[in-house]
Amino acid sequence: MVNTVIDGVDYGPLVLLIGCWKGDRGMDIAPESDGSTEENPFYEEIVFDACGDVDNADKQNLAIVRYHQKVFRKSNNQQFHDQVGYWLWDKAEGTVMHTVSIPRAVTLVAGGQFDMSGFDGHSALLKVASEDGGDWGVAQSPFMRDNARTKSFSMNLKVDADKISYSENTLLDIYGREFEHKDRSSLERV
Ligand code: HEM
Repeated sequence: MVNTVIDGVDYGPLVLLIGCWKGDRGMDIAPESDGSTEENPFYEEIVFDACGDVDNADKQNLAIVRYHQKVFRKSNNQQFHDQVGYWLWDKAEGTVMHTVSIPRAVTLVAGGQFDMSGFDGHSALLKVASEDGGDWGVAQSPFMRDNARTKSFSMNLKVDADKISYSENTLLDIYGREFEHKDRSSLERV
């Protein structure tokens, strides 16, 4: 029997995330204004905290994992990406939710399903997606909407005991073109 409960709250697959993680094999693909593509090797740390649960409208119960991600360029050791939000688990519906908030005035809610029936307590593949105007949506400032719009976001995050790897794709409408802004990384528990 796999234990996914901490202090009375069932975190489902998210229980595997809780803790502090570091990795130095990240790669970011970002757009340049001249039409070219920037590749940024990075290292990062992500802290996931178990934060209890919440009831919504008396009907929905969500287990809460809060995270903070800090990403640093290898070339100059400067932080160049900061991200905060939550991973949420709706046990009744088998739904995983991921909120992303970045300091460019862009925030989104991504969602996906997770089947607990085959869960072994060590590994899980979390798949979430969001689309501007969709059920799982994107909110962004008028400037970003008009100049660097996030059209969609998808993420696959795999946890395997003390290792996390993820790949994410943020589809942007920027500099007069569509650009697949991609990030991938792997981290280890510290
Ligand atoms: C590891 C994760 C990420 C890293 C390292 C990263 C890094 C970058 C970099 C280097 C740029 C180019 C910035 C510039 O040239 O000024 C960029 C642009 C951008 N990123 Fe990310 N990013 C990440 C994740 C995300 C996510 C999750 C979103 C949205 C949900 C996002 C939204 C944007 C937007 C809208 C831009 C265009 C702004 C601009 O270039 O002027 N990024 N990002």
